[in-house]
Amino acid sequence: MDYVAWAKWYDIFYTAADPGDIEFYHGLCTASGGPILEIGVGTGRIALPLAQQGFEVVGIDLYEPMLKVAQQNALNVAPLSGSLSLIQADMRNFDLKRQFPVVTIPARTLLLATSEEEQVQTLCCAAQHLASDGTMAFNLFYPDPEMLADDPEEEFLLEVVEKPDGGRYVLTAKNRFDLESQLNHGLQIAEELDSAGEVIRREELGVVVRYLYPEQVTALCNKVGLEVIEMWGDFEGSEVDEFSDEIVVIARHTTSD
Ligand SMILES: C[S@@+](CC[C@H](N)C(=O)[O-])C[C@H]1O[C@@H](n2cnc3c(N)ncnc32)[C@H](O)[C@@H]1O
Repeated sequence: MDYVAWAKWYDIFYTAADPGDIEFYHGLCTASGGPILEIGVGTGRIALPLAQQGFEVVGIDLYEPMLKVAQQNALNVAPLSGSLSLIQADMRNFDLKRQFPVVTIPARTLLLATSEEEQVQTLCCAAQHLASDGTMAFNLFYPDPEMLADDPEEEFLLEVVEKPDGGRYVLTAKNRFDLESQLNHGLQIAEELDSAGEVIRREELGVVVRYLYPEQVTALCNKVGLEVIEMWGDFEGSEVDEFSDEIVVIARHTTSD
């Protein structure tokens, strides 16, 4: 995904979309007490409120423009009672030489590793940074058959955000799923419109993700020595089925007994 270009748009659409994940991730972190490692920390949407609450949060991200927005967001809030360390690193290959009681990969970020090998590498790095009794959590979208059948030419609406000056931001998308490779070569189109409805800014953002089915998630976790403790279909703990939007995973290190 073109997160260099996305940095300018991410907070506009993601803050408005509220995927309902913040409470889930914050609950896990609060239960453990931290410190917390967030993989693919982005603009600090999840990490920053935790640092404000007093937690030590370390966030890694590959793309400097996203980290710069996170840094600026941190400066825009009151002094943190905890801390937020932002590190530029690739989730597929990094070594911070420490372990954390909580490791998270929110917002479907694991799917940005676009081959099985890269997804295993990402989970392996995550597991290496997880304390022996630590908790890891991540979420992915559920690949429901209706979505996989999306017409690649059909543009659909994802989000509209009203601006105080009467203008608005509009996010639309197209999906091009390949059922064999499990890749989606998607396109997201972000637009800013003025109060007269004229487009004043437009950007096309490529998105490639490799989707996974629940049983594949379990197999990948097992491959890197992780055991899936919980797998839900939303952030409230519903069962996963073909009507689920999410696959929410809580995992720990596999125990030998
Ligand atoms: C969907 S955003 C999630 C941001 C944040 N965790 C949140 O929940 O708002 C995915 C993030 O992963 C980052 N990313 C993509 N590929 C990466 C990689 N190989 N290593 C580390 N970060 C990566 C992107 O720059 C982006 O900030």
